[in-house]
Amino acid sequence: MYVCLCEAITDKQIRNAVRKYQVSSLKGLRQVLPVGRECGKCIRQTREILQQELIQLEEICAIEVA
Ligand code: FES
Repeated sequence: MYVCLCEAITDKQIRNAVRKYQVSSLKGLRQVLPVGRECGKCIRQTREILQQELIQLEEICAIEVA
């Protein structure tokens, strides 16, 4: 699903970038993806996806340690 229409960025691209580049903030994400650089309407949803992905990664790490 497209999240950022201005830059044609999907939720999958955002999730992949979080995992691949280990970004933990919107600022870090924007260094590897041009999300939200135009109208900014996608920022809120991008932040939500980033948070979801970070929570999932934490859960995966917790399972691997246990
Ligand atoms: S929808 Fe992302 S900058 Fe416009």
